[in-house]
Order: sequence, then C-alpha cells, then structure tokens
Amino acid sequence: MSAKRTKAVERLIEAAIQAQKRAYCPYSRYPVGAAVLTEAGRVFAGCNVENASYGLAMCAERVAIYHAIAGGQDALSAVCVVGSSAKPCGACRQVMFEFSDKDTELYLVDLNPASGRRKIVKTTVFKLLPMAFDPLASGLLPKNPRNLLKRKPSRRRTGASRRNR
Ligand code: THU
Repeated sequence: MSAKRTKAVERLIEAAIQAQKRAYCPYSRYPVGAAVLTEAGRVFAGCNVENASYGLAMCAERVAIYHAIAGGQDALSAVCVVGSSAKPCGACRQVMFEFSDKDTELYLVDLNPASGRRKIVKTTVFKLLPMAFDPLASGLLPKNPRNLLKRKPSRRRTGASRRNR
C-alpha cells in the first residue's frame, strides 16, 4: 500500500473511532462507528442512531454512506466499521454494494479497551456479499443515475456504474 493510501486509511479508521463515541444507542447499548473513504479522498462518518420505536434504529454504516451521498460523493474506495466484533448487517452490505466496486476495501475494527489493542480485519465489500442483488446485472440502474433530475450532466459515476469500466 502506498504511503498516501496508508494515511487515507488511517484517517478513515480514526473517523470511525471518533464516530463510535457519538452513537445514540440507549436501547441496545451497542455503539457502532463507521466511516467511508470516497474515490475523491473525502471521509464521511456515521454512528448508529436508535429510537424508542425500536424498528427505526439506523446502523452506523448506512448513516455514513448516506452522509457521503448527501455530500455529493458516491463512489466508495473503503469503508470502516468500529464496534465489538462488529460486522455489517445484511441490509448494510447491500447498501455498501450499491456504491462499491470489486476493490472497495472494508476494515472491521474491534477496540479492546482492556488491552488497549485494536484488532483490524481487512476484507472487501464484495467478499461480504456474494451473489448480491446487482443494480447493473438486474438492469435497474439507469446509465446516468445522477441525471434523473435533469441537472447539468455530472461526470461523476456511481460506484455501481464504475464497474462498467
Ligand atoms: N448496528 C450497526 O450500527 N451496525 C452494524 O453493523 C450492526 C448493528 C447497530 C444497530 C443497533 O443500533 C445496534 O447496533 C444493535 O443492533
């Protein structure tokens, strides 16, 4: 990994660690932090947000991804999840897949406050969701999903459309 990439991944992991501290999880008491690194090199973070109406809870991963989308970024280069033995749920895997390509890295970080040591597992979004429901293979994703509002055509392509290259 290049020194530049290593720095970017460190920034990503740190953002997810900080986000975990902001989790709103009074019901599960299971704080999760997440962050995404976009192809443009920007980092967006998220934490889980629960509700007294339990089913409304939103996972940290989706908060981070939607944060990136709202910030105008949609191609994910890496994703990081921080929590106790945290692994993205099935719903989050499908949402990650939408904006990923086969190289999108996934870092699973488990902080162990007792030992002060971090356990980091590195994998990819695609590996975590074999036989995914693919927006391209299904023919559901329009060629220029960003142009649907008839805005000025954007040169940005979604993670999924990047897979066409
Ligand atoms: N949660 C996440 O934020 N991400 C995951 O990958 C798994 C679960 C949250 C949802 C809920 O707030 C809490 O963890 C317990 O399920």
